[in-house]
Amino acid sequence: MGKVMLEVKDLKTKYVTRLREDVYAVDGVSLKIEEGKSLGVAGESGCGKSTLALSLMGYYFPPLHYMSGDIIVDGKNISGMKPDDVRKKVLGTEIAYIPQAAMNALNPTQKIIRFIEDVIHAHEPNMSKKDIYDLAKERFGILGLPAEVLEKHAVELSGGMKQRTVIAISTILSPKVLIADEPSSALDVTSQKMVIKMMRDLMEKGYIKSMIFITHELPLLYNVTDDIMVMYAGQIVEIGTAKEMVFDPLHPYTKGLMGSIIVPEEGVRGKKLAAIPGTPPNLKHPPKGCRFAERCKYATPTCRGMEIPNIETADGRVYRCLMSERKIRGVYENE
Ligand SMILES: Nc1ncnc2c1ncn2[C@@H]1O[C@H](COP(=O)(O)OP(=O)(O)O)[C@@H](O)[C@H]1O
Ligand SMILES: [Mg+2]
Repeated sequence: MGKVMLEVKDLKTKYVTRLREDVYAVDGVSLKIEEGKSLGVAGESGCGKSTLALSLMGYYFPPLHYMSGDIIVDGKNISGMKPDDVRKKVLGTEIAYIPQAAMNALNPTQKIIRFIEDVIHAHEPNMSKKDIYDLAKERFGILGLPAEVLEKHAVELSGGMKQRTVIAISTILSPKVLIADEPSSALDVTSQKMVIKMMRDLMEKGYIKSMIFITHELPLLYNVTDDIMVMYAGQIVEIGTAKEMVFDPLHPYTKGLMGSIIVPEEGVRGKKLAAIPGTPPNLKHPPKGCRFAERCKYATPTCRGMEIPNIETADGRVYRCLMSERKIRGVYENE
C-alpha cells in the first residue's frame, strides 16, 4: 500500500439555516486516497458533493458548520483548525481547491500573472516577481499552456483556456491534494478533454500527489480516476475502482447513474437511456432507513425500517444496500 495522502474518518458537517432547520449535507463520510491516486465523486445535484469539498478544505463559514470527524492530510490532522490557520497553512500547499464555476470567478481586470503572484506570496512573501514569472512560465509550458496567457486578462481567454489557467494557478505550489469541483462540466467536449488531460498530467508529473474529481456524471470518471465514490443524500452509497463502479455496479443508485450504453473498449458511449425517476430527499428531514428506498424499484419494507450499514464483500467491495451481492448481480443480468 502506498503512503496515504488524504484520510477522512466519519466526517459530519451541516448547514444551519436561518429558520434553524439544519441541513445534514455531509453525513458520516469516510475515505482514503494514496499517493499518486485519484478519487472520483459522483452523484446527482444536491447529494452533498460540493459541501464535502468545502468541508475537506476547512471552509467553515456560516451557514456551514463542522460537527465531527477527522480530516488527515499526509499524516496531519487539519479538522477543527481555525479558518485563518487553514488559509495560511493548508490552502495551496496541502490542499488546493477549485470551486464549482471557478473560472467565472476570476477578476476580469487582473492579469493572470498577478493571480499567481498572490497565491505564491501568501506562502513565500519574499519571492521576487522575476522568479515567480519564471516558475509560472515553466509550469505553464509543461502543462501545454502558452506563456502569453500570463500577460492576459481573464476576459481575453476562452472558457476552456480559462479553466485550464485556473487549474494551473491553483496548483502552482504543488499541493498534496487537489479537489476539483465539476472542473469540466460547463465546457464543450474538446475543452473537457483538454481539462481532463491536464489533470492527469498534473498527477503524472508529480505536481499534485492525489486528486478528488467531483462530477454529477458518473460515466465521465471512467478513464479519469482510479477509484469512484458515489454519494446520495449526504452519504456514501458505494465505493470501488472505476472499472468496478462503471461496469459492475452493486448499489441500485450507482447502476441508475450509469444509465448509458457501455462499450468496454471505449468507456461509455451513447445517450442516457433514462434518468432515475424522482429526486433526492430533503436533507433537513432525511428519511429513516435507506435514503434511496423511495426511488428504488427493489426496495422492501425492511429497507425503510432500519439504518443501512456499509456492507463489505469478500473481495473488498463496499456498498450500502440490503440486497446481497449475488442477488443484485442476478437481478441486473435479467434486466
Ligand atoms: N448555503 C446553504 N445553506 C443551506 N443549505 C445548503 C447550502 N448550500 C447547499 N445546501 C444544501 O446542501 C445539500 C447539498 O448541496 P451540495 O453540496 O451543493 O450538493 P451537490 O454539490 O452534490 O450538488 C443540498 O440539499 C443543498 O440544498
Ligand atoms: Mg455541487
